[in-house]
Amino acid sequence: MRQAGRFLPEYRALRERHGFLELCKTPALAAEVTLLPIRRFPVDAAILFADILLILEPMGVGLEFAAGDGPVIHRPVRRREDVDGLLHAAPEQALAFVLDTVRAVRTELAARTPRVPLIGFAGAPFTLASYLIEGRGSRDYVHTKSLMYGDPAAWHALMERLAEATVDYVKAQIAAGAEAVQLFDSWVGCLGPDDYRTYVLPHMKRALAAIGAAGVPVIHFGTGTGALLELMREAGGDVIGLDWRVDLAEAWGRLGDGVGVQGNLDPVALFAPPEEIRRRVARILERAAGRPGHVFNLGHGVLPATPVAHVAAVVDAVHELSARA
Ligand code: CP3
Repeated sequence: MRQAGRFLPEYRALRERHGFLELCKTPALAAEVTLLPIRRFPVDAAILFADILLILEPMGVGLEFAAGDGPVIHRPVRRREDVDGLLHAAPEQALAFVLDTVRAVRTELAARTPRVPLIGFAGAPFTLASYLIEGRGSRDYVHTKSLMYGDPAAWHALMERLAEATVDYVKAQIAAGAEAVQLFDSWVGCLGPDDYRTYVLPHMKRALAAIGAAGVPVIHFGTGTGALLELMREAGGDVIGLDWRVDLAEAWGRLGDGVGVQGNLDPVALFAPPEEIRRRVARILERAAGRPGHVFNLGHGVLPATPVAHVAAVVDAVHELSARA
């Protein structure tokens, strides 16, 4: 997650010469950024360099990654008319640069041993809706929940629209060569279970079923979702992402058989001394207890100030300690 991001000096060097959107939209550069962590660490998968918000730009809302401010949507969606005004565009045209990046990365990875698979990704409808409606990141999601509670028909129309766009986009990534896909519902943990069931679950069920039919593993990720895990399982996905606020074994027990889990190291644990990092990796592997279907990962993205050597320590500890288990 965010493995290629700003903690790598070689990424920061590229960013001195290129804007973030420019990197995303130039397949040769985006492919190069995707491969940066693969060149540095013996990780078991590559994650496509792109962003969950790219899908919003062709809808005509004005997307900008403002320096220091994070992403901004210049014309946020606040009313039914705004939902109806969103533009449609096929991902094969509007997001061709992402699909070209997928193809370029697959070509590069094909030449490597051991084989490293490529994970594609997209934002889940709720998390995309929260950016579209708030216009930026949010703490309380006041505008998002105001639309949800105040005009449920407009909310559901928006979620349908986003679910459809997400399914088309993810299927296009799979057709281009993505070997697994992750759906990021990063901010859905701001909802209680009743609201998740009413306003999110039906859309996720439909989207995850359609994506699942494409035949590659689907990772269903969220954070702050300790109260939503059973509902996320009901929504679908082959693997459910766990953040660090839950105990892995307990959470997996609640999810039941027939589903994998991904997680769940606290990204801030990477600021601890390497021996402590190793203890925490060991603890997670102990909680997974060799049960098949555990994808070791952080519970959320790598923070920009993370020491590179500590990322290496995690990768090494996972390989060493899981080989021993
Ligand atoms: O390894 C990778 O970098 C993979 C590519 C990737 C990015 N964003 C690149 C990126 C992935 C998988 C994402 C997902 C993403 N983007 C999510 C879901 C994951 C999560 O963290 O919950 C979300 C919510 C976004 C939206 C987004 N994009 C935000 C909030 C920001 C600003 C982050 C900040 O701390 O300022 C971005 C920008 C972004 N996306 C960067 C990168 C490498 C940093 C851009 C830069 O270079 O300035």
